[in-house]
Amino acid sequence: MDADERAEMYDEEEFKLTDIRGVGEATARKLREAGYVDILSIAVSSPEELSESAGIPLSTAEKIVQEARKLVRLDAFKKAKDVLKERQEAARLTTGCKALDELLGGGVQTKAITEFFGPFGTGKTQISHQLAVTVQLPKGKGGLEGSAIYIDTEGTFRPERLVAMAEYVGLDPTEALENVYTVRVYTTSHQMLMVHRAEEIARDYNVKLLIIDSLTSLFRAEYVGRGTLAERQQKLGRHIHDLLRFAEKFNAAVVVTNQVHSRPDSFIPGIDTTSPIGGHVVGHAMTYRIGLRKGKQHTRIARIYDAPDLPEREAVFTIDERGVVDVV
Ligand SMILES: Nc1ncnc2c1ncn2[C@@H]1O[C@H](COP(=O)(O)OP(=O)(O)OP(=O)(O)O)[C@@H](O)[C@H]1O
Ligand SMILES: [Mg+2]
Repeated sequence: MDADERAEMYDEEEFKLTDIRGVGEATARKLREAGYVDILSIAVSSPEELSESAGIPLSTAEKIVQEARKLVRLDAFKKAKDVLKERQEAARLTTGCKALDELLGGGVQTKAITEFFGPFGTGKTQISHQLAVTVQLPKGKGGLEGSAIYIDTEGTFRPERLVAMAEYVGLDPTEALENVYTVRVYTTSHQMLMVHRAEEIARDYNVKLLIIDSLTSLFRAEYVGRGTLAERQQKLGRHIHDLLRFAEKFNAAVVVTNQVHSRPDSFIPGIDTTSPIGGHVVGHAMTYRIGLRKGKQHTRIARIYDAPDLPEREAVFTIDERGVVDVV
């Protein structure tokens, strides 16, 4: 079978790494261990990156990337009408707060990654909890009638909060807890692995929302110092690629949080401590970025940045025992 024929029958779910010409079991294992779990992730990486992170010779890496690109046809264009159709399939998920929904053009979008960033206590974790509840609502009420996966990197997941929020939006709290699958992760590799696991169960569990709170904290902790920055950004890039793929494959919303350090004493070499962690790798890959800050009298202000289809503007909300709510 030649590359063209193989490209025609390309199906992400059927294809294995060993289907790439020149990749045997041993190389496939090295690639998987380095985080390359599918052909697309190889096709979009550079030979240098592949060689370095998987520990294979550059000449081999060049061939592998070339063959992977043939298989996924990265150079193929789509018609605008097909892109429009794909975009029309995207749905909106209510945040449960009118002001925030309006800011987002109707809610958090599926087939996209939405990032909430801001300093501590601005509501990133509260918003994450609330979405894990609202995703379960009927479509007529702004939900997606699905379940949520919550990847907790900071140990701040609180089922009690879900109970309170579920009651407020009129869901049975016991049922609401049934539909949120959570895992506490401790390393960046663990975090990435859990996204792959999420992919395996998403269809069976009707997962419509994947949350990572926070996307960057473990990356920041594991890769300290200038020397490891490139490595960190590469891995983070692969992780984000996996997230986008998840969003598209399952027509699901992916929501991540990102802390911003505003304290001048928290200087980390190579990282601008006043802007969201992850730099361009994170910034450019996110579809929607919402910056949060504290306002007067317990209010929070959300601002949307660089959205491809939304104006840059602000919304005000507040957090109380019911969850993330409008200021009245
Ligand atoms: N049950 C509750 N009732 C009222 N307010 C609450 C409740 N739970 C949390 N909050 C408020 O939510 C805020 C904390 O928000 P959250 O934990 O989402 O911050 P964060 O942005 O995730 O911060 P960090 O960067 O530290 O993770 C606090 O101001 C707290 O007062
Ligand atoms: Mg938090």
